Amino acid sequence: MSDSAGMDGLRVEACEKCADLVESRSRIVNGVGPDDADIVFVGEGPGANEDEQGEPFVGRSGDVLDDALDTHGLRRSDVRITNCVRCRPPENRDPSNEELANCRPYLDAELEAIAPDVVVALGKVPAQHLLERSVAVTNEAGTIETIDVGETRLDVLICVHPAATLYDRSQESTFENTIEKAATIVGAEG
Ligand code: URA
Repeated sequence: MSDSAGMDGLRVEACEKCADLVESRSRIVNGVGPDDADIVFVGEGPGANEDEQGEPFVGRSGDVLDDALDTHGLRRSDVRITNCVRCRPPENRDPSNEELANCRPYLDAELEAIAPDVVVALGKVPAQHLLERSVAVTNEAGTIETIDVGETRLDVLICVHPAATLYDRSQESTFENTIEKAATIVGAEG
């Protein structure tokens, strides 16, 4: 088990590890969804909407994700949705390596406890963070790589970030195909 001191079950109730994020956040945004979900979606970190509402992927990216889940026979309430970092970075900048590392024990504890059939890395930051290598997301979307988190072996499916489909329509089919693949892995019907 990773060093996840400070967690209450799968929730982080208080954390002061990242000075900048303690300043920029309104609240800690924990993962949502069942603690025995077959799929865990991992995003980068909360944006303004998530920071306000205290739930991951509730803004425009969340709408894109929800639509794709629906199309492929998955329900938001049946999947787990979480982020690499649980506090909104200032001006939505990417989380720093230090911030990612500070939050990693919480993510690892969540993934280990849930032990899903597939972890979907939504975008470059989570893909690189989970796989610990450089990832060209557009080229590698739809591919699966196995990682070990503690004693738990997990399949990570690389996916473009839902927001990418909003500013680049050519990413839509890549995104949809990857969500379809995740749905197939867990036996959902589209
Ligand atoms: N983008 C992310 O990566 N995570 C969220 O929770 C929302 C948008």
